[in-house]
Amino acid sequence: MTNSFEYRGGAFFCEDVELRTIADQAGTPCYVYSSSAILSRYREYVNGLEGVPHRVCYAVKANGNLGILRLLAEAGAGFDIVSGGELYRVLQAGGDPARIVFSGVGKTREEIEYALAQGIHSFNCESEAEISLISSLAVRLGKTASVAVRVNPDVDASTHPYISTGLKEHKFGIDIAEVEGVYARAAGLPGISLDGVSCHIGSQLLDPAPLVEAAQKLLGLVARLRAKGIRITQLDLGGGIGVPYRCGDPRPDVGAFLQAVKKLVAGSELFLMFEPGRSIVAEAGALIARVLYRKRSGDKEFIIVDASMTELIRPALYEAHHEILPLRQSSFGNVKADVVGPVCESGDFLAEDREVANVLPGDMIAAMTCGAYGFVMASNYNSRPRPCEVLVEGAGWRIIRQRESLQDLIRGE
Ligand code: LLP
Repeated sequence: MTNSFEYRGGAFFCEDVELRTIADQAGTPCYVYSSSAILSRYREYVNGLEGVPHRVCYAVKANGNLGILRLLAEAGAGFDIVSGGELYRVLQAGGDPARIVFSGVGKTREEIEYALAQGIHSFNCESEAEISLISSLAVRLGKTASVAVRVNPDVDASTHPYISTGLKEHKFGIDIAEVEGVYARAAGLPGISLDGVSCHIGSQLLDPAPLVEAAQKLLGLVARLRAKGIRITQLDLGGGIGVPYRCGDPRPDVGAFLQAVKKLVAGSELFLMFEPGRSIVAEAGALIARVLYRKRSGDKEFIIVDASMTELIRPALYEAHHEILPLRQSSFGNVKADVVGPVCESGDFLAEDREVANVLPGDMIAAMTCGAYGFVMASNYNSRPRPCEVLVEGAGWRIIRQRESLQDLIRGE
């Protein structure tokens, strides 16, 4: 956990704001983010890449709140988007279209046209058919689209199977064994400039070794393409660096990983790009919830809180671990319990069989490391309005997304 969240005299703070104050005023459930934690992780990338031409394109899918995008845009970040919706968000937040890279395996014609009209930096393409479509749309619009092919390097990312993407059997990218033919054919197409090679092998990688292996494979490919006269100028290594979800777990060293990559690309005259999402925002966020009830069933103890899988689906979907901490430390010790929400699903839990603080109804808890893939994956299941989001800056805080109302729930019906 970053030191943006810490106990002071038994009360849990985010930067210089006591979380209980936010919960009392903004209500629960509520996401709280530390701006300094976000910026310091972003700067770790920028500093680590000093000395080589580069761009850090924050992966909007991890957390697309306008307040957070604005923070990163002002810090000079580029953005990695996967939909027209994310493009719209970045533009609304003041992001520079010339710093946007468009990834994703199923871009629609409308999304491609939108991105071309806005003049984004480049497209990471995942199939030959997509490259052809971009070519024809760019010609029609009188534009030249910068294109990179997302290569599937067949590297085992050793992460959760749902968030691993770099093996042959995955739907992502084009097999490295077949991609040279694709480049050769695409090189003749009008309306595109074949500038880049890209990959993204998976998410929540704790060991940088597979990323370094993928980088090596891609550099080999760049050399072979250049030998055939295809002038590759850009290398995008995707995102994927993981974060510690358990208290005391080591944090993967972004600096060391970037150092290793910098060494590999030295002298290759490549513009280096990364698309980190989780490692920028995960640790900066917590989900605050109020304890509604305690109940015992047989040997099991349940702590029923007002946050559920509709606010945070990661435990249900990936068996993900998020630390559960009380907003006020007490002398009531710990209890082994399931921390569950109000949703009518047995899979609706924030923690299972976990030693947690012995909190009582009315107490507040924080599920930690929720800044990435938290709110963005929230749903309205069980007709639950989505929670509010708060951004803390030093001793100040503000709501960056209002809690949904009952009217919001039926809008459009
Ligand atoms: N670039 C591409 C092409 C991606 O597909 C992803 C994530 C990223 C960058 C950012 O990866 P990151 O740095 O965040 O690892 N919902 C899952 C994670 C899904 C990741 C999908 N792709 C979770 O909650 O763990």
